[in-house]
Amino acid sequence: MSNLKNHSRRRFLAQSGLGLVAFAGMPGFLRAMEGMQGLHGMPKLTPNKASLNFKPDVEFDLFSRSSSVSILPGQQTRVQQYAALLKKGPKETIVDIPGSYLGPLIHLQKGQKVRINLHNKLAEPTVTHWHGLHVPANMDGHPMYVIDPGEILVYEFEVLNRAGMNIYHPHPHEATAKQVYNGLAGALFVHDEEEARLELPSGEYEIPIVIQDRLFDELNQLIYVRGMHDRMTGFYGDRILVNGFPDFKIDVASRAYRLRVLNGSTARIFKLGWDDGTPITVIGVDGGLLEKPEVKPYVMLAPGERLDVWADFSGRNEGSQLVMRSLPFSGVLPKMAERMMGGGMGMMHHNKLPVGSDYPIFTARVTKKVSDSPKLPSQLPKINWHPISATANPDKPVPIGISEGPMAMLLNGRPYKYNDIQDFERIKVNTIQLMEIFHAHGGHGTDSAAASGEHGAEKQSGGMGGMGMMGGMNHGDDDQKGGGQGMMGMGHRGGGMGMMGGMKHGDDDRKSGGQGMGVMMGMGGGMGMMMSMAHPIHLHGQQFQIVSRSVSGDEEADYATVREGFIESGLKDTVLVMPGEKVRIIKPFQDFKGLFMYHCHNLEHEDMGMMRDFLVE
Ligand code: C2O
Ligand code: CU
Ligand code: CU
Repeated sequence: MSNLKNHSRRRFLAQSGLGLVAFAGMPGFLRAMEGMQGLHGMPKLTPNKASLNFKPDVEFDLFSRSSSVSILPGQQTRVQQYAALLKKGPKETIVDIPGSYLGPLIHLQKGQKVRINLHNKLAEPTVTHWHGLHVPANMDGHPMYVIDPGEILVYEFEVLNRAGMNIYHPHPHEATAKQVYNGLAGALFVHDEEEARLELPSGEYEIPIVIQDRLFDELNQLIYVRGMHDRMTGFYGDRILVNGFPDFKIDVASRAYRLRVLNGSTARIFKLGWDDGTPITVIGVDGGLLEKPEVKPYVMLAPGERLDVWADFSGRNEGSQLVMRSLPFSGVLPKMAERMMGGGMGMMHHNKLPVGSDYPIFTARVTKKVSDSPKLPSQLPKINWHPISATANPDKPVPIGISEGPMAMLLNGRPYKYNDIQDFERIKVNTIQLMEIFHAHGGHGTDSAAASGEHGAEKQSGGMGGMGMMGGMNHGDDDQKGGGQGMMGMGHRGGGMGMMGGMKHGDDDRKSGGQGMGVMMGMGGGMGMMMSMAHPIHLHGQQFQIVSRSVSGDEEADYATVREGFIESGLKDTVLVMPGEKVRIIKPFQDFKGLFMYHCHNLEHEDMGMMRDFLVE
């Protein structure tokens, strides 16, 4: 274990591109990094075994293993991959995707009792999480349950979710992104009677669309994080894969289809739209079907989010095609990174497929004319909404404060640490909680922090004491603007600065951190501005409702490029929070006690520590 730790520290320093000298005068910095390293204090538990009194309806072995697959023409690509072997239950439970590195599709029925035996055939620790499922804490794939190579971890749970599309993927401490990137991920569907009654398109008319981006070298091998900036912004490939395949095409008949879309990228955000301007008809999101279809000009889809799309090709001619694209938008990346990604400005790698540019995702070709098609239902199943008055804390939302800095992405001012539960992270079981996700830095943070009551603001700045450049967050706009302009004179957002401003007001740690960094960057600050970006915030456990979203004035131009792409009329487990945005949610914490994570589903951010636990008790 200590080997692993040292290795990851060395790698971290080497990749940071900042150099050791820069770190020398920065104790706060080093302490912050401590929070990102190793498995600190994470207990090593004996893997759970099958229990005699659990009588599964469905049982399968799930293998995490290394493998090679053909993705691009030529040489095969080394990947990590899930494979499953059904031992009990309906044979439709496991559906392989031939030739893909993606894990098999898993189909479960609400009410089924499921046993999954996870076999770690990798050369490193892993654990699997059922993203979207409401399962007991010890079945949720918390990093504390990682198993070593050769070990088997037994999961047993009853399917309590309503029908919907979920994800299974690894969740080992600080290695989630890399394992997902290497190929470990799959779609898990829950079905129920409400869904069946609607007779939505199924079988060959229901198509999973798992969208991911990858970067390959000349030998067709995957390239991953090349430097600190790849972690700060998240890692972006320049090839779009759907279900594991490049240039994905589907042949369709001229009728309605149900597309089950999942963004399985580690960081890339999509703005999905049809190339001919046909609106997108959405019938479901993360937590299953909406109450009625929504028709949108485009839909935003961040990592971890899902969409249930009604795609009707009726009336289209044989030989015609429709392309789903990612349409242009701006504002999800720090302004500077946005420019560098397109133009290439030293520190950042140029990307042929900048985030927010216009590019194809997949093509549907009409190859068969048919006269009959199912009709889009106008009513879908009812959702059990909770009013704010039903929450345990209508006046005091649980804060989820996002803070961004050059070396750390934090939630509520703290990097992930096992057993580091703050007061406001203790949640009483069987309560419904009002929560507020907001940016805890810059001019905008102030009012949100105030809104979240005592815990928000104080705990955050307290927590940032050791963070060096994370300081500087609660400064006036004037200060920040000065810094932002000084720095390369870019970024209309003026939100910037952070760091140098932070020195004036920070404690000693921050001072040294700020100066060190300022000198090192040789650009007089500007980190806050540099880092303000969008984060897909994911909460484990039950699905939540989105109560309200609001965005501050300076961000409005960018926000206008995405605003119509959000869907609030369904249950969610992941929500994209744009720069300057504040999102209120209502989330139940029923049935299960224990640790449930909340984190950024930009998986590079998650692995940098942008993750915390709620202790439900
Ligand atoms: Cu899909 Cu904790 O994550
Ligand atoms: Cu999850
Ligand atoms: Cu993030």
